[in-house]
Amino acid sequence: MSATPAAERHRRLIYGYFGHDARIRLLREAAVFDAPVFVVDFDRGARHYRTLGSVGGFAGPDQITEQSSMDLMYPAHLVFHYERLMALAFALVERPVTALLLGVGGAAMWRFVRAYLPECAPTLVDCDEAVVAVARRWFYLSQPVTVEDARGFLAGTTQRFDAILVDLYDAHGPAPIDAAFWTRCLDALAPGGCLATNWADFATNRKVKPIAEQQAELARARGLDCNFVTRRGFRDNLVQYLPTGPARGPEGIAPAQERFARERRLPNRGRGILEDCLITREFPLDLA
Ligand SMILES: C[S@@+](CC[C@H](N)C(=O)[O-])C[C@H]1O[C@@H](n2cnc3c(N)ncnc32)[C@H](O)[C@@H]1O
Repeated sequence: MSATPAAERHRRLIYGYFGHDARIRLLREAAVFDAPVFVVDFDRGARHYRTLGSVGGFAGPDQITEQSSMDLMYPAHLVFHYERLMALAFALVERPVTALLLGVGGAAMWRFVRAYLPECAPTLVDCDEAVVAVARRWFYLSQPVTVEDARGFLAGTTQRFDAILVDLYDAHGPAPIDAAFWTRCLDALAPGGCLATNWADFATNRKVKPIAEQQAELARARGLDCNFVTRRGFRDNLVQYLPTGPARGPEGIAPAQERFARERRLPNRGRGILEDCLITREFPLDLA
């Protein structure tokens, strides 16, 4: 069967982005995600990668977005810098034995937890069955996933988690998260737990700052503070941490990261994770 003109256009966009020697493994619609998603393999020097991406989005129909990536030789390594920052949520918890991963994508965080925190039991939630099927087929995911909107999941659970990682994006940007969602996240944190939230395109997508500040405001009402970390000058991803343990200030992040990298034997001893990063108490940009 020949490809539709739309699929042909998507293939051209993918090759334009990843290079003409890339190999497209899959291109399909993902209904809830609301965009075509694809799996592509490509090489960068001696490294071989597999990426889950999507076509279209808030920047227009030609936008290619990398949702998740895997190093084919070292699948448990985190490829994206923001994922390594997200992993620091575990460093800010004394004994992380339970984790809630909201937004499975290509299961990068799940592979990391399985390899580097084998005593930690992750619960996985994603609202798109098609994305979960892709993660199973192409990204080694072998654990059950609750296929449900993260908001509905949190509203219905009485479980407590040491780490909650929020990475909820579809083709249009961040999921519509509200105060009730953050309240449920805070309620679902075990004592001493840490909530970490990924904000992509935080400097260009104006939806981000008010939602991030809403989390910080609800945290303050409970006597807690958020920390924000992003790479200086890049303005791509920002990670917001809400730690509730004893070492909660921004000054605690670097020592926690060093300890975590050493104890967990992170690749390259975790070097570079916080290098050239800005660590702030407030959302780091004035976008008013
Ligand atoms: C960027 S990907 C997550 C990547 C992931 N952190 C990883 O380790 O590879 C975003 C995911 O969020 C999911 N998602 C978006 N909105 C959601 C919602 N409201 N509830 C649950 N999942 C959602 C999407 O289906 C997509 O799989």
